[in-house]
This record gives sequence, C-alpha cells and structure tokens, in this order.
Amino acid sequence: MFLIVGGSGWLGGTVARLLLAQGRRVRVMTRIPAKVDNLARLGADVVAGDLRQPETLRQALNGVEVVIAAAHAFPGEGENNPLTVDNVGNRALIDAAKAAGVGHFVFTSMLGVRDNHPVDFYRIKYGVEQYLHASRLSYTIVRPSFFMEPWAVRIGEQVVEKGEVTIVGHGHNPINFVSVDDVASLVLLILDRPELRGRAIKIGGPENLTLHQVAAIFEQIVGRFVTKRYYSLERAKATSILMRKINPALSRDLALSVYMDTADLAFDSTETLRVFPLQLKRMEGIIRQRYSAVTRVPGTGVA
Ligand SMILES: NC(=O)c1ccc[n+]([C@@H]2O[C@H](COP(=O)([O-])OP(=O)(O)OC[C@H]3O[C@@H](n4cnc5c(N)ncnc54)[C@H](OP(=O)(O)O)[C@@H]3O)[C@@H](O)[C@H]2O)c1
Repeated sequence: MFLIVGGSGWLGGTVARLLLAQGRRVRVMTRIPAKVDNLARLGADVVAGDLRQPETLRQALNGVEVVIAAAHAFPGEGENNPLTVDNVGNRALIDAAKAAGVGHFVFTSMLGVRDNHPVDFYRIKYGVEQYLHASRLSYTIVRPSFFMEPWAVRIGEQVVEKGEVTIVGHGHNPINFVSVDDVASLVLLILDRPELRGRAIKIGGPENLTLHQVAAIFEQIVGRFVTKRYYSLERAKATSILMRKINPALSRDLALSVYMDTADLAFDSTETLRVFPLQLKRMEGIIRQRYSAVTRVPGTGVA
C-alpha cells in the first residue's frame, strides 16, 4: 500500500492517478476527504489526516509499505504554516513512518535547498531532508524546480481576469519550471530503482524562462497584449519584513518573489534525462492546454 500525503495537491494527485493506473494500492491522506472524491472514484482509499496531528498519522500509516510525502503549507494561513506543517509535521510523519515499519519514504523537497538559504522555506525543507537521512529509514528525496502548472494558473488567472500580470522586480531572471506530470513520472521511476535509495534527485524542466517570456507565451495563446505591472524589489523586501507578523503568508510570498527575480534559478536537465527516460513538457504546451479556449478577458476586450 502507498500512502500519499498531499494527495489532493498538484503533485500528490498526479502521483496517485499514475499509481492507480498501474493497478497499485493507494491511500490518500487529506484534511478534507471531499477534495479527493475523484481519486476515491478511481479506487483510492481515502483517510482523513493532518500532519499537525500525529494520532491521525498512525492511523493513516496502518499497513503502508511506501510513503510519498507531497504536502506543504507554503501559502498556509494561521496555524497551518511551514513551521507547523513542513517542519514539525513532516518530522512527525517520518517518526510515525519509522514506528509503523514503513519500507520506503519519498520526500518532496525543492531544487536549491541548503542550510543557509535566504528563504526560510528552503531551509525547512533542507532540515527535513537531514532528519530523514538521520532516521535510518530507506528514502529517496526529489528536488524539483518550480512547478509549471500552478505558476501557469497563478499568472493565467491575472491574465484572464484583468489582462495583466504583476511582476515583482524586473521579470528578466531565467527561472526553471518543470511540469508536475514530469515530476510525478520521476517519482514512479524512482520507486522501481532501489539503487537510488538514500539519494536526492534533482529534476527541472527543459527550459529556463523569465516571467516576461511566460507573459509572452500567454500573449501568443490568448492573442492579446498582457499589461505588466511592476512591484519594485525594494518595496517587496520592505513589505515582506513589515508583514512578517501581520500577514506571514504574504510576507513569505513576497520573499519568494524577490528570490525568483534575483537568484540563479536556471537548471540544465541534461543529467536528469541521461538517468531517466522522460519527455519533459514545455510551458507553452501547459498554457495552451489550459488557456487556448479562453475567449474573453473581462475589462480588456480580449475576445
Ligand atoms: N508548487 C511548486 O512550485 C513546487 C516546487 C518544488 C517543490 N514543491 C513541493 O512539492 C510538493 C507538492 O507541492 P504541490 O504544489 O503539488 O502542493 P499543493 O497543490 O499546493 O497541495 C498542497 C497539499 O498539502 C496538503 N496539506 C496542507 N496542509 C496540510 C496538513 N496540515 N496536513 C496534511 N496535508 C496538508 C494539502 O492537503 P489538504 O488540503 O487536502 O489537507 C494539499 O494536498 C510540496 O512538498 C512542495 O513543497 C512544490
């Protein structure tokens, strides 16, 4: 039995569907079971659980051989946040998996994690990687770049609603985006490769794109100019600091946006492709699939 923590999310849901299509037994953990009705209909066992509640983890892990940890609370509000979920919660999951005698643990981390990373979310991920390593559980870590699909939706919503996109900084920094489908395929390949146990596998997409280039893809697909609104790096940094206590989710988001505009986020996927037979998807295809049918952008005359 595979337990997917975060099965209602982009990556967890895709991994669940791929495993179910292979006829494997899948259990999906979520705080809100109605969110995964689609997976239940495909044959997944659904269990209510919360990374902040260790007793629910014990129940979820009953009879499980492999855990795939794909939850996160980066945008989380209030008590459901990176500290309680990504840090404390993932460590509790590792402890519970060990106690339950789980055979293998796949942890979804991020490309670029390190202990002195400027963004605390990356430091949390790195700390959990270290904790997993020290646990002596059999494990594999996956370190993907930014996911294409949620970023396409985030930008696409602005394009569709207002005909514009807000860019923090200059928008000229090349960023590697990878399709969730490709990361999910990699997770499945890893499961059948015991020699990769104890390793951290990096995966990125086939191209490094600036936010201007992503906006240009939207322009081509919806057939209209997309207005760029700029939020300066100085303002983003200052607001991030100011909002740390008042609105931590906004503070985190701005800190990440500053990082995305300033850090070296390019990735060469040659090495990944040498080891894994993947046909990496491109951003244009992901956007076209979702937005080529868009016929109207309110207030902009996009028709
Ligand atoms: N998005 C990216 O660009 C990106 C890039 C690199 C790595 N990653 C990593 O990849 C993984 C999957 O990301 P994603 O974007 O696919 O996620 P997502 O779509 O944002 O979904 C987040 C998931 O986390 C679960 N979750 C949140 N709080 C929880 C809690 N207290 N207990 C249990 N589950 C909780 C949610 O489940 P319920 O709400 O159903 O409980 C949901 O399934 C994460 O580890 C993320 O850090 C993401």
